[in-house]
Amino acid sequence: MELRGAFPEEFRSQLDLLMRLRRDVRRFRSDPVEEAVLMRCLSAFPLAPSVGLSEPWRILRVESETARAAALKNFEAANAQALTGYSGEKAERYAELKLSGMREAPVQLAIYCDDETTQGHGLGAATMPEMRRYSVVTAITLFWLALRAEGLGLGWVSVLDPEQLNRDLNAPQGWQLIGYFCIGYPERLSDTPELEETGWQSRMADLPLETR
Ligand SMILES: Cc1cc2nc3c(=O)[nH]c(=O)nc-3n(C[C@H](O)[C@H](O)[C@H](O)COP(=O)(O)O)c2cc1C
Repeated sequence: MELRGAFPEEFRSQLDLLMRLRRDVRRFRSDPVEEAVLMRCLSAFPLAPSVGLSEPWRILRVESETARAAALKNFEAANAQALTGYSGEKAERYAELKLSGMREAPVQLAIYCDDETTQGHGLGAATMPEMRRYSVVTAITLFWLALRAEGLGLGWVSVLDPEQLNRDLNAPQGWQLIGYFCIGYPERLSDTPELEETGWQSRMADLPLETR
């Protein structure tokens, strides 16, 4: 492997484009995802940083009809519950949002953090054990970009009762749910978050950056 310092301008502009076109996807085409492509994208996980090199990511591939039905039911119940937290126009808007592609996505993963791993010997996690969970999120971000580079989309679903999902998927004790992920080819591409397009929330105009 050629080791480089800075990458060339052309690469940097492609990387910028990749990040700009990474979207949270909830609308998927029905085309299947080739196993080799998925595996290539999953190989982003061990490239991620992790506290103490603990590599606490654990992945459950949700394939069976029973497991998928349980996850979908869980989402629908949590989404109905979340709707009750809004009123008036915001409730109408919330009800119109599509917040998961769980009915359509050909690949579905529940990604966990093993909070009890001894890998890394606790380095960096003594005062802030949540660092292990943040490590999993860093890996998911790399995975997200790798998928996008292959033309695939990822949708993060957090509108769920995690304990119910753990029971339904028979997740090992000590694993903390980070999220449920839908993967497939997106119906369309966009450089704008869907929540911005629908008028739910716009992005901030400026980066909140202060100096002390
Ligand atoms: C931790 C986390 C949880 C999320 N949970 C959901 C979710 O349950 N349903 C959903 O539709 N989008 C979810 N999203 C996607 C965000 O809504 C999305 O990232 C944000 O609106 C910006 O859009 P973009 O990812 O297309 O840039 C989640 C994103 C993150 C990072």
